[in-house]
Amino acid sequence: MAIAKLPTLVPPDLVGAPEALPDEPADVPLQLCRDLLIDALGGLAGAPTVAVLRQALDALRDRLGEPGDPIYAGREAGQVRFSAAYLEGEFAQIGGALTIERARYYVDRLRRAAAVERTGAINEINLNRWKEYDDILTDSLWMIDRRDSSGVHTADYWGNFIPQIPNQLMRRYTRRGDWVIDPFAGSGTTLIEGQRLGRNTLGVDLQPQMVERVRSLVSAEPNRHGAISHVSTGDSTTTDFRALLEGHGARSAQLAILHPPYHDIIHFSDDPRDLSNSLSITEFLRLMGRVVENVAPALDRGRYLALVIGDKYARGEWSPLGFLTMNEVQERGFLLKSIVVKNIDGTAGKRNQKELWRYRALAGGFYVFKHEYLFLFKKR
Ligand SMILES: C[S@@+](CC[C@H](N)C(=O)[O-])C[C@H]1O[C@@H](n2cnc3c(N)ncnc32)[C@H](O)[C@@H]1O
Repeated sequence: MAIAKLPTLVPPDLVGAPEALPDEPADVPLQLCRDLLIDALGGLAGAPTVAVLRQALDALRDRLGEPGDPIYAGREAGQVRFSAAYLEGEFAQIGGALTIERARYYVDRLRRAAAVERTGAINEINLNRWKEYDDILTDSLWMIDRRDSSGVHTADYWGNFIPQIPNQLMRRYTRRGDWVIDPFAGSGTTLIEGQRLGRNTLGVDLQPQMVERVRSLVSAEPNRHGAISHVSTGDSTTTDFRALLEGHGARSAQLAILHPPYHDIIHFSDDPRDLSNSLSITEFLRLMGRVVENVAPALDRGRYLALVIGDKYARGEWSPLGFLTMNEVQERGFLLKSIVVKNIDGTAGKRNQKELWRYRALAGGFYVFKHEYLFLFKKR
């Protein structure tokens, strides 16, 4: 049975009309009356044979092709939003089922998706509609080739991470209104992204000029959820993050994102407290341990700490900085949940050096870095 593509059935005045919230599926073009949809699906489930069920499915598809059909409700309560692609996929499975039992199983699944929101304990992902979240990464290899440069995000702070990293982490591990700590705030990527997603953020950075810059960036970014984006100058090896949270009436944070210097690969400042000025890797690791010890008491149990870090190569030797730092976090009682490898295909500056690095690699018997790590830990 041929099933027409749903997007062509969507009434033009409703396409893209509802503004998709960041935790909702990215593509949300269909806004339907929940009760009428559930009734129609009930009709499908009651069909005695696959042939009858397919006829009822065709009738439902015809209704969805009718802009005036009451199944397209206005913008009042009692509605459910579905991406056209998701609905199309479900209809294809229902219509393609070879037995009535299988078809009813798919219909019931769609009915549950329409009727019940089942969000995870630490995020707002509706697990009854998990197929719609295809932009949320769940594999341990992240290949992200384009930086999100929308809004006030810029790439001009050497050593900042791409906004997709805090975006993925916050959508996976927090809910709206939660608090996120970033002890190496830099140019404020986490804070900007948090503000967009309605997460409160607490950033600390050693460099006062970066803190000023972050303040002006977050104040230029729309704040439609009324999130708090607090950033202050400080040394995260001595910062009391709980006290900072209390200053905003919060008792704890629900996620920590740590993106420290990768030891001395980039010198961020002349401040001797700057981790990029650590005289050795041993010293760097000791200071990272202190940062983790300061962040840990402010984080709720069962919540996540994400560490974003790469390795370094110096004096003919590869130093597994990522794994060494991972050990420091584990030694402080955190449970390792995942190791994600993310591509780093380089900034424009690095691209210019590509050939030189390739020559060095060929001559020196090593491989050029193309990846960094995201370590995900859970507080026990
Ligand atoms: C890799 S960058 C973080 C970039 C950030 N994720 C962003 O997207 O802009 C590391 C930051 O750590 C800061 N830093 C280094 N040592 C610090 C310390 N002891 N306390 C607080 N911040 C520190 C540096 O100033 C730098 O901005």
